[in-house]
Amino acid sequence: MTTSTPKTIYLADYTPPAFLIDTVDVDINFQPDYAEVTAHLAVRRNPAVAAASLVLDGEELELLSVSIDGVVTDRYTLGENTLVLSHVPDVFRLSTVVRIRPDLNTRLSGLYRSANGYFTQCEAEGFRRISWFTDRPDVMSRYSVTLHADQALLPCLLSNGNPVASGVEAAGRHWASWQDPHPKPCYLFAVVAAKLDVLRDSYRTTSGREVQLGIYVEPGRLDQCDHAMAALKKSMHWDEQTYGLECDLDHYMIVAVGDFNMGAMENKGLNIFNTKYVLARADIATDLDFENIDRVVAHEYFHNWTGNRVTCRDWFQLSLKEGLTVFRDQEFGADVHNRQVARIHEVRGLRAGQFPEDAGPMAHPVRPASYIEINNFYTATIYNKGAEVVRMIQTLIGRAAFRRGMDLYFERHDGQAVTCDEFVAAMADASGHDLTQFMRWYQQSGTPHVKASGVYDPAAQRYVLTLAQSAGVCGNLLIPVTVALIGPDGLPLPFEGSIDSQCVLSLSESSQQFTFENIAVPPIPSLLRDFSAPVVLEFDYSDEALAHLLAHDTDPFNRWEAGQRLAGRLILQATEAISAGLEPVWPERLVAIVSGMLACSDETAAFAAEILSLPGEATLAEQLEVVDPDALHAARNSLRRYLACQLEAEFRACYERLAPLGAYAPDSTSAGRRALRTVCLGYLCEIDTVSYRAAALQQFEHADNMTDQFAALAVLAQGSSDESRLALAEFYRRWHDEPLVVDKWLQVQAASRCAETLARVEALTRHPAFELRNPNKVYALLRAFGGNHVRFHAADGSGYRFLAAQICALDAINPQVASRLARCFDRWRKFDAARQAHARAALNMIHDHAGLSRDVLEIVARALG
Ligand code: ARG
Ligand code: ZN
Repeated sequence: MTTSTPKTIYLADYTPPAFLIDTVDVDINFQPDYAEVTAHLAVRRNPAVAAASLVLDGEELELLSVSIDGVVTDRYTLGENTLVLSHVPDVFRLSTVVRIRPDLNTRLSGLYRSANGYFTQCEAEGFRRISWFTDRPDVMSRYSVTLHADQALLPCLLSNGNPVASGVEAAGRHWASWQDPHPKPCYLFAVVAAKLDVLRDSYRTTSGREVQLGIYVEPGRLDQCDHAMAALKKSMHWDEQTYGLECDLDHYMIVAVGDFNMGAMENKGLNIFNTKYVLARADIATDLDFENIDRVVAHEYFHNWTGNRVTCRDWFQLSLKEGLTVFRDQEFGADVHNRQVARIHEVRGLRAGQFPEDAGPMAHPVRPASYIEINNFYTATIYNKGAEVVRMIQTLIGRAAFRRGMDLYFERHDGQAVTCDEFVAAMADASGHDLTQFMRWYQQSGTPHVKASGVYDPAAQRYVLTLAQSAGVCGNLLIPVTVALIGPDGLPLPFEGSIDSQCVLSLSESSQQFTFENIAVPPIPSLLRDFSAPVVLEFDYSDEALAHLLAHDTDPFNRWEAGQRLAGRLILQATEAISAGLEPVWPERLVAIVSGMLACSDETAAFAAEILSLPGEATLAEQLEVVDPDALHAARNSLRRYLACQLEAEFRACYERLAPLGAYAPDSTSAGRRALRTVCLGYLCEIDTVSYRAAALQQFEHADNMTDQFAALAVLAQGSSDESRLALAEFYRRWHDEPLVVDKWLQVQAASRCAETLARVEALTRHPAFELRNPNKVYALLRAFGGNHVRFHAADGSGYRFLAAQICALDAINPQVASRLARCFDRWRKFDAARQAHARAALNMIHDHAGLSRDVLEIVARALG
């Protein structure tokens, strides 16, 4: 809770730590309603910094004693969340004893209780809620940890590194000691004291190190761990193959916990995961869940090098580890699943989440210059735009040079806490490219626009392409634009300097011309292939040109992109028509295109499903000056219905052709068949007939896997038919004991386009399945509602009022999660005056809520400011 105005932290104010802490010995004694934490720190003055006092961070710690070199002292000052020791020696041993209350820790930051015991989350600033410390990533120490607890209630006692000793104590208690040989910042500290089952395995690295693997889960769930274990071993192998990076540990543990603010955490040797990214079995997890588990397991494993071995100097450099590690997990996902579809998903995510963020009140550079609450900056910009920035470096310098850059980065900085500059410098030095101008991608916010135009001169057989960029506050960016020229016969035209008929143009000035010689026919340019830069590309394509690219482009991403552009343009035109009280008209051209896609092979089914999925409302809304969410929603659905009616027989045939071939397997080809089949069912149910609802219900009832079962439920839940009610009731009856499946049940209702969705969501907040204290439940019900474009932005403001009240209630429990929920208001200024008035009132109500956290305050103040 705030007692004073929150302070802004600036990158420009960075100073190195005044004291270094070489070793940390932590002893945690778990008692029924508190834990006693004793920490011994080997402290040493940093010779490079002139500072008299040692300032330690602490939050909600009940201080029991402080001693220096074994002598209890009262020569310290307690500030608001600080403990200041003046006149300390240059080298000394500092010991503190505190009492903390993990059972009352509803913020899930620091040490907290969940169903089966105690867990920690220290990134970004949770360690200060466990012990007094210089809680900053550039202070790295060697840790040893001893845990004491009741043996029957908390049989597993885990921490980072290696187990060194354990034993029993009086009164049915036991203890265990762990030692981590690798120095680390305190945000990577972790302990677990819980009752868990463990799935064990092992992995032998190329150089012969045997790593013991363990996945710890709630008792009785070992049959849901196999996929995560396989993902871990795949990731370990991939990082050896791709980057020559081996695991440096003897023990690598993953612990799953049902109460967790984010996805997962890369604590050294002891990852702690949201159950959502560990537990899976064909009957309770969807294809998407399986794929996400692969990605998140890989992400946390990859952090062991990009994050842990080389970490961040300060939290402004967060993207140094997150952008790079997302890029690595994306490439892993592309290699083990379907590269084309993976790239499409990444760009869909960027446009639905990061572009709006970059255009709204929380816009910030990949390396922010300031923050109030660092937890508010675990954003799409840091993670996903950060990954795009890394990808652009690879595109500009090439894969081979990128790999040399990675090698050089580790050679120079292993064991250090560094900045984004060091990463880019390694890439520049290894490749010989000058990346000075490229650094601006880290310094300015906002999505750049690139305007392209082309002129073909038949007499000179020349095509001239002009590229221009919108000016950013830091000046022009260095933008890689991958280009090919597609001929009228659909074949790419070779040109000088092209490799596989394409090249990467470097746009570095505000406007540049690129000339292509010996072009015998007028080409259609395929620009920004594979989405070579996170920009908005403007090119005046005719509908015919887009249809041509959609049919022939050799870059699969740009084939998809052409379809999205065409569909998006038509939906926006129809939105305007509907707003003006007119009926939308749809061109017949689309019918042939869609029909062609439905005739795809099994191998291209996943790609066809992407082409047939129209751009989402939030993405389209960004292109409008003033958003009329009802008209936009009606226009998009009208196009779906038009296609369904025109192609009813084709959709039905495709749906039947793609019926399951055998027992479920989560491989990408069969997942692709299921994805396209689901798309067909969705279109067919736009023709609101009993027979298609019956087909959906039939699929729901007979599916042998969650993917098909949930897909049918999601289609039915878009309506309020008897079939819909029946399926929802049956789903809950079947799965009420599986928390992750209950999340799906909540989410599918909150995301429904039905007019009564808000009333249902309100009722669900009082349902026994919902729990405001559990982040997964909040995300499933409340955030899904906040992302329901047409219902959250209801004209009467009811959606805004509802969510505002929930945010206030949640803030008292868990500010980090409340703050994520508050982000649903980000784009409120895009709407009409009446909606804006409702949103402003809701935001003001949150802002004035007594005791508001600085987490939510920062979001709401920026939204109103
Ligand atoms: N480093 C984690 C990851 O990207 C994210 C943890 C952030 N947690 C938080 N409460 N801010 O995998
Ligand atoms: Zn991460």
